[in-house]
Amino acid sequence: MYQSIKILGSLTLALGLFSCSHTRNISSEKNLPSLKQTFKSDFLIGTALDSVQNLPTNEKEAQLIPYQFDAMTPENAMKAENIHPEWGRYYFDQADKIVDYAQQHGIKLNGHTLIWHSQLPAFVHQIQSADSLRMFFTEHIRTLASRYNGKIDSWDVVNEALNEDGTLRKSIFLDKLGDDFIVEAFRLAQQYAPDTKLYYNDYNIEQPQKRAGAIRIIKQIQAAGVRIDGVGIQGHWNIRSLPFDAIEKSIQEFSALGMEVMFTELDLGVLPNPWDSDGAEISHTAGYSEKMDPYKNGLPDSVAQLQAQQYEKLFNLFLKYKDDISRVTFWGVNDGQSWLNGWPIPDRTNYPLLFDRQFNPKPAFYKVIETGKSK
Ligand code: XIL
Repeated sequence: MYQSIKILGSLTLALGLFSCSHTRNISSEKNLPSLKQTFKSDFLIGTALDSVQNLPTNEKEAQLIPYQFDAMTPENAMKAENIHPEWGRYYFDQADKIVDYAQQHGIKLNGHTLIWHSQLPAFVHQIQSADSLRMFFTEHIRTLASRYNGKIDSWDVVNEALNEDGTLRKSIFLDKLGDDFIVEAFRLAQQYAPDTKLYYNDYNIEQPQKRAGAIRIIKQIQAAGVRIDGVGIQGHWNIRSLPFDAIEKSIQEFSALGMEVMFTELDLGVLPNPWDSDGAEISHTAGYSEKMDPYKNGLPDSVAQLQAQQYEKLFNLFLKYKDDISRVTFWGVNDGQSWLNGWPIPDRTNYPLLFDRQFNPKPAFYKVIETGKSK
């Protein structure tokens, strides 16, 4: 008798605990502030998604994304090497799934990206003649731009065409098509995606010399009578070296040209850089060492607080220019999914986003929300 009471008692206790923690989970998720609601009258809040195949099995992420974000960029699915891996053969599956997902949830989708020197399929590197490359260029833009016109909101038409000193980066496009390849890309995108916003996207274009290069590109497109709607500053920064002044000047100068300004791939890494300068040159990598991976067992609270402060300062700046900024997109949903765990050094443990590896909000999340509430 005593035994069964005991069993019953612990069962009740266990059930009680279970239902209590269960209730707590559900209600705290319900009560969690929403980024997209908080900044509704300011700018869109986006995330990047590598693949939606996992969504239905990961309930937390499936709930979190539409609750927090009203914009999205496919992290890899629309890049040439994935969507167009062989000459004239397209694999739309992944991209279409993300487009459908975004449509179902009322999320604005930014296509990323039509023309980029990185993540090109091998066949493009083998193209010898300018005519053949032009054929690829035209066909690629025409196919993607027309397929998704009316279904997505915008395209990063050209990605990362600049060197740090503001000159045009050496690439197969510059080499074979000459320096008006950017204007041509926008002209084709305008023709085949007339209902889609068209953007130039790059990293470090807040920095003075590179910014001057971006301004030249914008003016060149405008002078040709071709449409460009905005410019995306990627925003792959480190919590210890955020270039606030340069960011502010960039917003002012880009918007003076009539551009929508966007922060398109925001993440604030907390790990040391293997070299002096910041950026996002994906071909630039270094080898692993324990010294370069200091937080693999957890993020110290002091670092989480510093990150929160930096995000707070950044969002205060964004809010100051809310009339010029149309979107702020984080490059990933949670820390565990961030590309910064693998770049520029493989297998590190980085913490650049607002949600931790279990999709729980970090101190930075609450600071960002606070900026939005106290505006
Ligand atoms: C990164 C992706 O996040 C990674 O998954 C991929 O392996 C490499 O590319 N600038 C860009 C993005 O415009 O497309 C890059 O994304 C990060 C740098």
